[in-house]
Amino acid sequence: MKSVQIGICGLGTVGSGVYNILQRNAELINCRANSAITVTHIGSRRDNPLCDIGQTRISRDIFEVARDPDIDIVVELIGGTSVAFDLVMMSIKHGKHVVTANKALIAENGAEIIAAAEQRGVIVAFEAAVAGGIPIVKALREGLAGNRINWLAGIINGTSNFILSEMASKGRAFPDVLAEAQAKGYAEADPTFDIEGIDAAHKLAILASLAFSIPLNIEGIFIQGITQLQQLDIVYARELGYAIKHLGIARQTDEGVELRVHPTLIPEASVIAGVNGVLNAVMVDADALGSSLYYGRGAGSEPTASSVLADIVDISRTLDNPPSSWVPTLGCPLTRLVEQEMIPVTNIETCYYLRFSMFDAPGALSDATKIMAEAGISIEAIIQKEQPVGIDYVNVIVVTNRIPERLLNAALSKIEQLSSVQGSVFIIRLEHLDQ
Ligand SMILES: NC(=O)c1ccc[n+]([C@@H]2O[C@H](COP(=O)([O-])OP(=O)(O)OC[C@H]3O[C@@H](n4cnc5c(N)ncnc54)[C@H](OP(=O)(O)O)[C@@H]3O)[C@@H](O)[C@H]2O)c1
Repeated sequence: MKSVQIGICGLGTVGSGVYNILQRNAELINCRANSAITVTHIGSRRDNPLCDIGQTRISRDIFEVARDPDIDIVVELIGGTSVAFDLVMMSIKHGKHVVTANKALIAENGAEIIAAAEQRGVIVAFEAAVAGGIPIVKALREGLAGNRINWLAGIINGTSNFILSEMASKGRAFPDVLAEAQAKGYAEADPTFDIEGIDAAHKLAILASLAFSIPLNIEGIFIQGITQLQQLDIVYARELGYAIKHLGIARQTDEGVELRVHPTLIPEASVIAGVNGVLNAVMVDADALGSSLYYGRGAGSEPTASSVLADIVDISRTLDNPPSSWVPTLGCPLTRLVEQEMIPVTNIETCYYLRFSMFDAPGALSDATKIMAEAGISIEAIIQKEQPVGIDYVNVIVVTNRIPERLLNAALSKIEQLSSVQGSVFIIRLEHLDQ
């Protein structure tokens, strides 16, 4: 059996998981990889009590690992995009294969990293970067290689999903659930990337590149987080038969690709509506297979490490083969990826949930519905919610048919100008996930 020497950089949540699984399942993993895989060098600023590394060499300077001539695969698990980028580029320069769980790094700097790796004849693998332990990268790149992907939609940020699930099931307020998510370690001390949709956008960029064979690009993604959502929207949506989930959606259209991350109403009966807590799920619609669903733990020490190990085993299996026989990182070689038009959100077409506050007077509602009718917007459902005694305004909730967003926006600005309407109209996009 050939020997494969691993260097782990970053011995935090995921790094310790990788080390521990490699010890526990060594025999099985070595058999599957047909290699003797050993961690021989760790780069970490500190020891991790969750991980007994015995006599394994440890360097406080992670770059020592990239320079170590005996290391075959550098596993980057420090996070961030500055030091991690330098580490990965140095590893490639020294002829190391790289495994990373770092979605921000791949989404933002993937093109440069993969180009350097292709040139140097090494592999960069990132199964753990999207949806943690769910093997969605492999599914898109290999399992669905014969399909044209029509669209995919996923719950790809566990923190947002945990917060929305708690708000929906227990009626809790956003700040309260966010504080719990931070205390439980689901959300970072600075949760901006999670709750503002940036983390999901990084993952969507990677998924879209794999699904549509387009270059990695986060620029064209419409990004909206969950911070504007109110408990009452979750309640009204449920009354109408919908759940609200934070989705990453990528869709191939005749005009180009739509890439968007935002809260979305989806039918309560859909499978993905039942994905709660920190779990992730990605639904893929492909021309030959039809719909398929990938579901499981999208974060956590060992679930994420499970994907890192899959990459380590993959690389170990292929080490002796020529680069031409390797599965390309993004499904096809970088030079064969084709740019597509990024469709701005104003040009998308979907259904909408609208909520606005209106003075409770005869004829007021018909003024608003007349504007919608004139714009060609059909109303699929409408409810008017009485406010407590003493408040003369009512909440009006409307579900529209499928319409271009620019038409909706034009109608909404007219509705907002009605003297009976207070404030602006709050919208949430609605998807049936069936077309
Ligand atoms: N946790 C998850 O569930 C999960 C899921 C999917 C993907 N990921 C990705 O996996 C990567 C690692 O995440 P994690 O949760 O394991 O993070 P973590 O628990 O914070 O661990 C990161 C480790 O890297 C160390 N580190 C950071 N910069 C360093 C440097 N310049 N030199 C040496 N050590 C350095 C940190 O050391 P200090 O403690 O000294 O700062 C820490 O021990 C990230 O890219 C993350 O996005 C994580």
